Amino acid sequence: MVEGGRPPLGHAPAGEPVHVFSAPKGTPPRPEIARAEGVYMWDGAGKRYLDACSGPVACNLGHGNARVLAALNAQAAAATFASLGHFESRANRAMSDLLAGLAGPGFERVFPTSGGSEAIEAAIKFARQYKVAVGEGTRWKVIGREPSYHGNTLGAFAAGGDAAAREIFGPLTKTMPKVPAPLTYRPPAGHDAVSYAEAAAAALDERIRAEGPETVLAFILEPVGGVATGALVAPASYYAAVRRICDDHGVVLIHDEVMSGCGRSGHFVTSDGWPGARPDLLVLAKGLAGGYLPLGALLAPAAWVERVAAIGGFAHGHTYTGHPLAAAVGEAVLTETRDRDLPARAARLGADLKARLTGLAARQPLIGDVRGQGLLLAVELVEDRDSKRAFAADRRVTERLGDIAQDLGLLIYGRRTNGGRYGEWVMIAPPLIAEDGEIDEIVSLFDQALSQLTAELAAAR
Ligand SMILES: Cc1ncc(COP(=O)(O)O)c(C=O)c1O
Repeated sequence: MVEGGRPPLGHAPAGEPVHVFSAPKGTPPRPEIARAEGVYMWDGAGKRYLDACSGPVACNLGHGNARVLAALNAQAAAATFASLGHFESRANRAMSDLLAGLAGPGFERVFPTSGGSEAIEAAIKFARQYKVAVGEGTRWKVIGREPSYHGNTLGAFAAGGDAAAREIFGPLTKTMPKVPAPLTYRPPAGHDAVSYAEAAAAALDERIRAEGPETVLAFILEPVGGVATGALVAPASYYAAVRRICDDHGVVLIHDEVMSGCGRSGHFVTSDGWPGARPDLLVLAKGLAGGYLPLGALLAPAAWVERVAAIGGFAHGHTYTGHPLAAAVGEAVLTETRDRDLPARAARLGADLKARLTGLAARQPLIGDVRGQGLLLAVELVEDRDSKRAFAADRRVTERLGDIAQDLGLLIYGRRTNGGRYGEWVMIAPPLIAEDGEIDEIVSLFDQALSQLTAELAAAR
């Protein structure tokens, strides 16, 4: 037994029973969280950490926001839970109205969920039921990009693109067709980022034709990538081309903005930065409730929802759909996002942070690329910058950089996706309320972490 009578979570000394799932072998024990405020978090020993990744890119408002806590307490005091089957809640109506207003035309209806994967499932099932309602019931295939990530439930997983994860979970799902994501850092020979994006859009058109357009339900993409691509942003022309191709074939275009949405990318709806790129369905989560409670949402056009209502309504839902506490938190987070113009703040801070991370490359040879938009940024790590050669998987470079940073008091987000087939990177995505001085601190601590990793790698050679 350790002091205080409790072993660290998931790391029981031999013979001691602990009932939480264990972390992977080799992961150092994580400290217990004591408190958090603004961009900072403190562990039980009083050590302070700067949260430079908003947890898993969720805590857009940072921690301990007074308006959110007040809304949470007020709703809890009034009614913690009421099922949508029996009651509508003021909080759910207010959150939906605010969200539809911020998202703008085409997203007039909000279907709330308890997180990102659940919202992706809702989007896919809603698209299907809409197509059934309009007499196109032969459509069911959801084309996704390789690599991509849309969540860990089986439907979302089937739409996502991670060949390494498919080796384990693929047999449980009907694997959906994939087209290449327009990767910008290592485009295939003979291509630059723009020509490869054109080729990737053309590949979507070809794939739809090859599958038979009458069988294709939807195309799903992350407008700014998350962990699967390390904040991939394609050239603007790609997004408009994808929109045209989906229109040509009657395919529903779904933007997965679980990570990029609600202002993080510099726009409340990321596609507003690219003319002619708006999707049919929009999926939000993470920043929607800023990590204070689980909340996601599917946004859809009113006319589509009416069509589905005419055949009996959306045949989908969960116990916690429209949970009043989550809705009250969402309303408060959205109010802060609007009143403090956090999308504009993310654009300004993100441009500064990206430029400074890019500047670090001059003295940090591990930096191969700095990508992203707004406060959704990624730094790709390479063994050799000239050849863009990635590290071998067994070096566990991403994980080690995260651990070194945490020791230094900096939280970053990284996880090797796709077995490292496309390289590896860490996400730097601080809360949108960060101050300029806190951005300075992120750059300085990240610089130190990279230097330490470089020294360790050299010593291991
Ligand atoms: C782009 C994207 N889509 C979907 C999800 C799944 O969201 P959740 O983890 O809330 O289920 C994530 C989570 O990281 C994500 O980044």
